Amino acid sequence: MLKKRIVGNWKMNGLKSDLAYIIEISQQAAAHPKADVAICVPATLIESAAKASDIMAIGAQDCHASHSGAHTGCVSAAMVAECGAKYVIVGHSERRTDQGESNADVKAKAQAVIAQQMCAILCVGESEDHRNSGNAVAIVIEQLNLSLPDIDNLENSLCVAYEPIWAIGTGRIPSLEEVAEMHMAIRQALVVKYGDSGNDIHILYGGSMNGDNAADLLNIAHVDGGLVGGASLSAAKFTPVIEAANNA
Ligand code: 13P
Repeated sequence: MLKKRIVGNWKMNGLKSDLAYIIEISQQAAAHPKADVAICVPATLIESAAKASDIMAIGAQDCHASHSGAHTGCVSAAMVAECGAKYVIVGHSERRTDQGESNADVKAKAQAVIAQQMCAILCVGESEDHRNSGNAVAIVIEQLNLSLPDIDNLENSLCVAYEPIWAIGTGRIPSLEEVAEMHMAIRQALVVKYGDSGNDIHILYGGSMNGDNAADLLNIAHVDGGLVGGASLSAAKFTPVIEAANNA
């Protein structure tokens, strides 16, 4: 079984005054060694958060697919790596919607992240209409197949996060059976694409994960961790999720 991995996604939250909280979470990570814990902070905090936390990995929430160039306002994978990022989220639904990122864009970003020896956390997930249509699995697997990077050596370079769009920030989650069905389908797609090494890729669940539902979600087969938004923003809410991962 893969070691459970809990990744906080702070989204557009966090100022330097929140670094004390990074230290607090990193102490929780040290106290729960059976779970891997990381936090993806805004680009402005990566360097200071990485310096403040030697146990817990720090990640970025996006990067450009190109190494450098005329892309005002963007940061490259090399830039966030230089600041100390170990993970980069790519293809979050908020970026797919707000910035119009396509599956091809997401694939290119994942490849750029891996080329810098970081781990790409590649997000996929269906809308509520797609869930209600009964086609969620087929839609997510197509999105996944079009977004997966072409790489030979996968060692710790890729995670997939299944995040149903309608579950993000809403307090609603799919049934445990629906999560199990989706994660199994994602696992099969990863093995088709990468062979046996597809079994070593963490598949995270994201969307309203919290201290109340984490244990149930993390005990589902092929749920190898969580990508946590709102509940990662306070130690009181994040610690129970870390505990659940440590005990799963
Ligand atoms: P919430 O945990 O706030 O639903 O956000 C999930 C998410 O989007 C993590 O990337």
